[in-house]
Amino acid sequence: MSGKITFTMIKPDAVADGHIGAILGKIAEAGFKIKAMKLTQLTVADAKKFYEVHAERPFYGELVDFMSSGPIVAAVLEKDNAVEDFRTLIGATNPADAAEGTIRKMFARSVGENAVHGSDSDENALIEAGFHFSGREIF
Ligand code: TYD
Repeated sequence: MSGKITFTMIKPDAVADGHIGAILGKIAEAGFKIKAMKLTQLTVADAKKFYEVHAERPFYGELVDFMSSGPIVAAVLEKDNAVEDFRTLIGATNPADAAEGTIRKMFARSVGENAVHGSDSDENALIEAGFHFSGREIF
């Protein structure tokens, strides 16, 4: 069994499209507990740092512009096998390839504006949670 924590963002597209409540409902229904949560907005510098592993990718500039373009919901979630189970719940990066019933299939606009983030490893989940929340904001 892997770790119990993952980190998510409801991205600017899904916030602007009014999907916060529906997405949080899917997350709760899937058995995740909320350990930390806030409505916030990334600066360009924040978005560059958060996605710096993608700095050499052709979509990096657009990704940074998009992720800093409006409010997001950042949250730390708890469940057994959290990272893998959350990535199953959100579906493939490109909503066109995402399975029926997944959050990206239901709510994403496109591969770039794909509604939600989910950490890709236990190690990154902790790094990403720490990027957005102080210890006293995680319950
Ligand atoms: P990636 O880590 O590959 O996907 P995931 O979010 O599913 O772990 O990519 C990070 C984000 O970069 C992705 O959520 C949306 C954006 N992106 C694009 O805009 N175009 C692309 O071709 C890819 C692969 C990602």
